[in-house]
Amino acid sequence: MNSIVNIEWIGDAADGHLRLLDQTRLPNEVAMLNCTNVSHVWNAIKRLSVRGAPAIGIAAAYGCVIGAQHKNFDRAAEHLATSRPTAVNLFWAIDRMKTVTPRTPASLLAEARRIHDEDKAMCRAIGEHGLALLQASCGLEPQTNGQSAIEKQKSILTHCNAGALATGGIGTATAPMYVAHERGAAVSVFADETRPLLQGARLTAFELAAAGIDVTVICDDMAAQVMREGRIGAVITGADRIAANGDAANKIGTYSLAVLAKYHDIPFYVAAPSTTFDLGTPAGEAIPIEERGDHEITEGFGVRTAPHDVATYCPAFDVTPNTLITAIITDRGVIQPVNERAVRTMVGQSVAVGR
Ligand code: MRU
Repeated sequence: MNSIVNIEWIGDAADGHLRLLDQTRLPNEVAMLNCTNVSHVWNAIKRLSVRGAPAIGIAAAYGCVIGAQHKNFDRAAEHLATSRPTAVNLFWAIDRMKTVTPRTPASLLAEARRIHDEDKAMCRAIGEHGLALLQASCGLEPQTNGQSAIEKQKSILTHCNAGALATGGIGTATAPMYVAHERGAAVSVFADETRPLLQGARLTAFELAAAGIDVTVICDDMAAQVMREGRIGAVITGADRIAANGDAANKIGTYSLAVLAKYHDIPFYVAAPSTTFDLGTPAGEAIPIEERGDHEITEGFGVRTAPHDVATYCPAFDVTPNTLITAIITDRGVIQPVNERAVRTMVGQSVAVGR
């Protein structure tokens, strides 16, 4: 996976453009999308060509550069902020771009590149901080005997895609997996398919398999059974926005996994960079939850799977309360137990804003 570039600026500041890996076409096609105006970037975010909280923020930062190329930074920043409501990284990145002076394409591009590079470094730090937790809960061992090492240990369960595709680096939830794998551990992962848009099956399975990590896709409703069979040592997910008290919004289905993990006495970890914390939002109930179109439920991927005109409700995210989260793994360290005091102590200096 790491050889595939998901977000890239092509050319110079004055007339270059943003090139994105079109994630809607994975795993069947590796196709790139060239964004030469702000609408292209807005649409790419809205239709999930680029998705995952950190990647959305990075793409929007480059989108601001394109706005400045057309002498329209303010309108670009305003417009990009309407693309998706839940991932706070979007607003954080746009606000950071607004602090750049002068607002020339050259200085804005330098800032967007810094945001991109910093995210890469934060992913790596999350991987380092999370490694010990995975070793303790899954018993990761060096891959000396090939498959037999995997049989002795427990697997990691993840949901949606909080991987390299969703970030500027090695992902958030996947970062400890990649670090363990790099160090020779036999990592085995169950990836929830993640209805309705299948980010787990299409994206997480794609990138983990490409990296040579053992990955097994299950439908979302199989997680309880897999836990009951004793196969799971830890659940790790990403987050789109974490409130000041540690309540964490993430892809729909994350909350139910946390409930299941609690019932089966399995640690439930959230992995996120400090840019995903929104200290201006006191608790999860104030996090805006994106609702998406009914077609994602009734005819996802072009096949009608429900009667015409049936009512649907399609929240794209849910909020896992802090009481169900064993620890939050950040680039600055591990927050455990998860409560407001511990969150503020760890990430109190971050600049995430509430929207
Ligand atoms: O709707 P998506 O695909 O953008 O949702 C993504 C997620 O929920 C991820 O888990 C989250 O953004 C963390 S990405 C490191």
